[in-house]
Amino acid sequence: MATDTAPQSLAAIHRPVRAELDATVEELGRIVRNDFPLIGGVNAHLLRLRGKLFRPALLLLAARATGTMDQRKVRLAAVVELIHLATLVHDDSVDHSVLRRGQPTVNALFSHQVAVIMGDYLYSRAIQQLVELQEWEPMQVMSRVTNEMTVGEMRQLEAHDRLAYGLESYERLIRAKTASLVSAACELGGIDAGASLRATLLRFGHGLGMAFQITDDVLDYTETEDVTGKPSGHDLKEHKITLPLIAALPELDAAERATVDALMDDADPSDERVAEVIAIVQARGGVESARERAQGFARAAERELEALSEGEARDALLAALAYAVERRH
Ligand code: IPE
Ligand code: IPE
Ligand code: MG
Ligand code: MG
Repeated sequence: MATDTAPQSLAAIHRPVRAELDATVEELGRIVRNDFPLIGGVNAHLLRLRGKLFRPALLLLAARATGTMDQRKVRLAAVVELIHLATLVHDDSVDHSVLRRGQPTVNALFSHQVAVIMGDYLYSRAIQQLVELQEWEPMQVMSRVTNEMTVGEMRQLEAHDRLAYGLESYERLIRAKTASLVSAACELGGIDAGASLRATLLRFGHGLGMAFQITDDVLDYTETEDVTGKPSGHDLKEHKITLPLIAALPELDAAERATVDALMDDADPSDERVAEVIAIVQARGGVESARERAQGFARAAERELEALSEGEARDALLAALAYAVERRH
């Protein structure tokens, strides 16, 4: 079981595709280059730190595991990471977040206007690359996914302030905003491997993406910003209702429920108020229960891997599942 193995490092996931991943990062720099100074300035800021490169690594591993690695996969991996980067730039502006990868967000360092325009710039550069490839199927996959992510981010706005928000709505939201791109990365890696393997990779990526986002939501409750590189307790501060809170709510007594309601009624909750609700959610098993749900998705995804040939790429995909549930940042 993926979740029973020792803590996984990103290095183990990257190892079988290290060379292609380095080429992807180079490709990314080339794609976003622009002479206009402000665009160049934001690009330099964004590319200073690499991030986890989780989605391009998955795409390349899926290509390697299905014996279909070629130069086009590197280009597709860069496109997927670029779409990810564009959504992060927009997401931080929407979430009023000031820290990403341990450095100031574009909205904090430049402005919200710059974040809106740069998100569009990065997104449109990604689309141009897909068009240049002149391949219909990756275009179909990515146009569907980028639209789905937009709807997911819009759903996120609705998920604010509504304590009636339940598991089903939460999972629909994270499927759209996160699992869609993670599963597209896996599917694109296997795009030349035939319909059956492609569908297997899509399902694998779905479970992996769900587990990855649930863990992200858990980390907002459990880790400090020096560990994650993002502000902690930020989801509650923004009145974002995620799985740890959804799972804890039915377990709260009247006083605890009043504390949560008070935070939701407070337009700008203090750090103390946020810390108090985090402690309640942890004490009532919300974090534990969210972790179990993430593990459930990872186990379902693990079963899909049986359809792939044994080898280091498949092992790394298995490691990615363990990483998605065990990671601390
Ligand atoms: C952050 O994704 C957004 C989520 C879907 C949780 P990552 O955690 O992959 O971000 P980077 O690229 O490593 O910064
Ligand atoms: C994921 O949601 C964002 C995207 C898919 C763009 P979050 O809002 O939880 O991501 P972080 O925590 O800001 O990275
Ligand atoms: Mg965010
Ligand atoms: Mg988050």
